[in-house]
Amino acid sequence: MTKKIILDLDTGIDDALALAYALGSEELELIGVTGTYGNVLVETGVRNSLAILELFGRPDIPVFAGVPHASTKEGFEVLEISEFIHGKNGVGEAELPEPTAQVQDTSAVDFLIESVRTHGDDLIICPTGPSTTIAAAIEKDPSFAENAHIVMMAGGLTVPGNVSPVAEANVNQDPEATNTLFAKAQDVTMIGLDVTLQTLLTYEETKKWRELGTTGGNFLADATDYYIKAYDTTAPHLGGCGLHDPLAVGVAVDPSLVELFDTNLKVDLEGELRGRVIGDETRLNDKTKTAHVALGVDTERFLEEFMRRLTNLAAQTPQA
Ligand code: BDR
Ligand code: CA
Repeated sequence: MTKKIILDLDTGIDDALALAYALGSEELELIGVTGTYGNVLVETGVRNSLAILELFGRPDIPVFAGVPHASTKEGFEVLEISEFIHGKNGVGEAELPEPTAQVQDTSAVDFLIESVRTHGDDLIICPTGPSTTIAAAIEKDPSFAENAHIVMMAGGLTVPGNVSPVAEANVNQDPEATNTLFAKAQDVTMIGLDVTLQTLLTYEETKKWRELGTTGGNFLADATDYYIKAYDTTAPHLGGCGLHDPLAVGVAVDPSLVELFDTNLKVDLEGELRGRVIGDETRLNDKTKTAHVALGVDTERFLEEFMRRLTNLAAQTPQA
């Protein structure tokens, strides 16, 4: 039985790897990609998603544009740190083909709402960027929050943030939106820095993609080498790059990759703690726990699955 999935991406490098993981997983049917801002502008992310789908021979998968900036802000500009980590084009200046498909006319918000109505429990929504578009779907249709099954890359509960001592990058872009998601969505699995910084990739693995000599292998290697190099500067103690977004897709395929802690979450919105994910004290004694936070991960098994799926996928693209 395949599971249907929608990826909500701010298509930078690890989002691209998450997309490749979904395409390389026969357990998943990717029914659409929605595009948010974050690592890049919405239009850049959407274009990257279309081009990556083209590269891997899946231009049939529809791509929808999401909300372009946080509701508390007038607009959005890419942060310097995002550009440093993901490059100007979002994929480490790696080359991508010209997409033949166009972005859909339907908005990402309407596509998400309609998909949950149609597919219910058969569908997983996997956001790997700021929560703005998902929060907009929650506000527009209460049945979305009630019925959506969300596996998201965001936050961190037991470790410091990666853009401030308390905030992780996706939550930091729109803390109000992630707070709405935690307050209203009834089934959220949070794959945060607690586990994504335990799944690291090095040049040793990207070499295997380059050795394939295919267009897909070269793209994965070029983009990921750029990302590893950025990590060498920003977090040299890790000795590799964090596979944040692919781990969320990995858990969507196989939840047994992580150990989950059930709780109710909130995001701090004020002062120095703005952007921090923490247990919601007002719901501490609620029997229902709507959030499931990954605190442990089977690193070895995930890395094996990751390499197997992406290498097989890249091997099927034409020789460069
Ligand atoms: C998250 O922030 C983005 O830069 C990455 O794509 C990932 O989704 C990690 O904090
Ligand atoms: Ca992302």
